[in-house]
Parts: sequence; structure tokens; C-alpha cells
Amino acid sequence: MDNALQKDRESVSSMFNNIASKYDFLNHLLSLGIDKIWRRKLLNFVKVHNPEKVLDLACGTGDMTIALYKSGFEVVGADIAEKMLDVARFKSSRISSGNTPPPVFILASADSIPMSDNSFDSVTITFGIRNFEDRKSSLKEIIRVLRKGGYLSILEFATPRNCVWRGLFNLYFLKILPLIGRFISKDMKAYTYLPESVKSFPQYGDLCKEITDEGFTDVHYKSLTGGVAVLYTARKGVK
Ligand SMILES: C[S@@+](CC[C@H](N)C(=O)[O-])C[C@H]1O[C@@H](n2cnc3c(N)ncnc32)[C@H](O)[C@@H]1O
Repeated sequence: MDNALQKDRESVSSMFNNIASKYDFLNHLLSLGIDKIWRRKLLNFVKVHNPEKVLDLACGTGDMTIALYKSGFEVVGADIAEKMLDVARFKSSRISSGNTPPPVFILASADSIPMSDNSFDSVTITFGIRNFEDRKSSLKEIIRVLRKGGYLSILEFATPRNCVWRGLFNLYFLKILPLIGRFISKDMKAYTYLPESVKSFPQYGDLCKEITDEGFTDVHYKSLTGGVAVLYTARKGVK
């Protein structure tokens, strides 16, 4: 396997631990701030179903977790990288949102979620699923912890399908972004891993099929910014 694409838990967590302190800055810089618009799209989807309890898997530094909390939802954020969680805990300690209990952050992997069956109304994953070591087991775990009728929403990068847009995107994503990422983070691997992991990740209908195969219903996707990112949504059937 290409060394840049090692997806075992150890390699992935140490890579994210290594860039945790620069992650937010680079995230917003490299996405030109558009990641905030994408997260808002996912948040709007969650809001429609008005869940009580949300699990934000691969929560990283907690931007999505905190946005969910600010919208009044009880949220648990889970991630395998302790230093990413430290940043998330610090950020969430500085805000309060009415009577909603503050987010709880736990060190846990998506393929082994330490929560009981049917305990969440909604599961969200923003830019995390691409990094999972075992996607199939993770989807099984997600459907287990979701209550019947609960929703899964996933934001993930993709490759635009329009060839002109794809050409421009590839120039930025494959050539410019790794250089800036490497320069600022001083991490030689993480910002090579990012485009490589997007290239090798199932997109659009292919990911929908994987989600459907694990028993989810109402599986849909919506391209964002011409297919640079995709919002996938699915439901745990009510029967
Ligand atoms: C690109 S970051 C995304 C963080 C955050 N959700 C966001 O939108 O900024 C990917 C995160 O996935 C986490 N991750 C990777 N594999 C995981 C797994 N199996 N279970 C839980 N978290 C995982 C990493 O530690 C990292 O924090």
C-alpha cells in the first residue's frame, strides 16, 4: 500500500495528533472558508429532523460538534486522535448554549462505538469517513447506535465530474494545497494523504451503495460546490 495512505488506527491518529494545533487554521485557509458553508448544509439537514441526541463521529477539533450544540442538540463527539479532542474540548469550554448539556468528547473509533443500541437520533460525520480503517464495520456500528428512523449524514470530499472544473480543482488540490499544507503544518505526510485519500475513496453512487448494503434506507447524495464536496444522507429504516 502507498505509504501516504496507511489507514490503520495508529497511523491515522498519529497523523491527526501531529497537525491538531494547526488543523483549524489550515482547514479554513485551504478550503477558502467554504467548509463553513458545507457544514451549514449538513446542519440544515439535521435541523429538519430535530433530533434530541446526536453523535458526531470523527469529530476532530469539534467544529461540527459545536455547531450542533449551538443549535440546541445534545451532542457526543468521538474521535481516535486525543490531541484533536483536546482542541475540541478547549473550544467547547469557551461557549455555552442555554440549557443544553455541553458536548461530551470521547476517544473512540467508529468501528467500535462504546454506546448502547438505539441511543442516538442522528449521526454526523464531516470529512471523517474517508479515513476510517474499516468502513463496513463502522457503518454497522452506526446503524446499531442509531434509533429506528434516525438519520446518518456525511460530508466528504469528492472529485468534480465536470472536466473543466475538475482540471482546475485538481491543479489546486493535487499541486497547490499539499505545498501550502506542508509548509504551514511542517507535516510531510498529512497534506499528501489528503488528496490521495480522496482519489481512492468511493464517491457519489458508489458510497451510497456501500451505505445501502449495510441496511440503511433513503440513501441520497447532493453535490456541493460542483462536486468538490458531497452531502450523503441516509436513514435507519423504521421497520
Ligand atoms: C479530516 S478530520 C475531520 C474532523 C472534523 N470532523 C472536521 O470536520 O473538521 C478527520 C478525523 O477523523 C478521525 N478519524 C479517523 N479515523 C477514525 C475512526 N476510525 N474513528 C473515529 N475517528 C476517526 C481523525 O482522527 C480526524 O480527527
